[in-house]
Amino acid sequence: MTGFPRQRPRRLRSTPALRRLVAQTSLEPRHLVLPMFVADGIAEPRPISSMPGVYQHTRDSLRAAAADAVAAGVGGLMLFGVPQQADKDATGSVGAAPDGVLNVALRDLAADLGDATVLMADTCLDEFTDHGHCGVLDHRGRIDNDATVAGYVELAVAQAESGAHVVSPSGMMDGQVAAIRDGLDSAGFHDTVILAYAAKFASAFYGPFRDAVASTLSGDRRTYQQEPGNAREAVREITLDLAEGADMVMVKPAMGYLDVIAAAAEVSSVPVAAYQVSGEYSMIAAAAANGWIDLRSAVCESLIGIRRAGADIVLTYWAAEVSGWLM
Ligand code: PBG
Repeated sequence: MTGFPRQRPRRLRSTPALRRLVAQTSLEPRHLVLPMFVADGIAEPRPISSMPGVYQHTRDSLRAAAADAVAAGVGGLMLFGVPQQADKDATGSVGAAPDGVLNVALRDLAADLGDATVLMADTCLDEFTDHGHCGVLDHRGRIDNDATVAGYVELAVAQAESGAHVVSPSGMMDGQVAAIRDGLDSAGFHDTVILAYAAKFASAFYGPFRDAVASTLSGDRRTYQQEPGNAREAVREITLDLAEGADMVMVKPAMGYLDVIAAAAEVSSVPVAAYQVSGEYSMIAAAAANGWIDLRSAVCESLIGIRRAGADIVLTYWAAEVSGWLM
């Protein structure tokens, strides 16, 4: 025995090239999906005040921003529609309408981009209902699970018809994945992929998103989204979605749920996605704007952490910027 340690982990950190060679977790543009908002009835892109740098797009500004993001190398685009308030109703019918803003935008992007990117659509009713819930309500004002799922099937088929490669049921209703798979298959959309928001928690970190989609929700989503403390239940949700035919599963939010991402990666036989949600974006953006943290390093570190936990794919509002930085 000498007085010198033989094990010197620092040896592998001694030059940038060595650190690069042995880096275990990578972050590449193809891993990143950019969520985008398209609004009906606006003439100019509208900044979202709680998400500096993120916009509600017009049809035209969406096309331009989508083309830029794809040129920067992002792995895919996730579209959310923001209809005019007057078009919202109790069942969110404008969501499935062929001339509804999300379906129109999907057709635009499908025409512009074809198979050059992966076009994903949020398959949920909250953007389209006048009460802001992710489903339809029964006469007592409670979510009607099965009627809601029937609505999701119509939505998913409309989105597939409009050119979505991926539909993404995010409402946490029981049986939604199986019903959507059956609906897509009966309509001939055997190749349309289902990205199941399998474990979605009732989170305060969705706050800025509700601004972004002009949500009218009063109350909460705790009868369908999960309690933040329930990791075991998350595994149950993921397992059910896999059995129902999910092609990819998602955990949301990301940063507070890294253990759930790791558990998903462990049990999942399909790719695992994680959503760095609006509040995660806004926290980092606000701290960076104050000069309290460095934006680029904080963003990259947050995304590496999500990848290290086990996410193959990360949805982030920084997808296009980060792709630019990485090129
Ligand atoms: C609901 C939905 C939510 C988000 C995307 N779709 C959550 C909610 O309002 O409960 C959140 C996304 C984000 O915060 O970035 N369909």
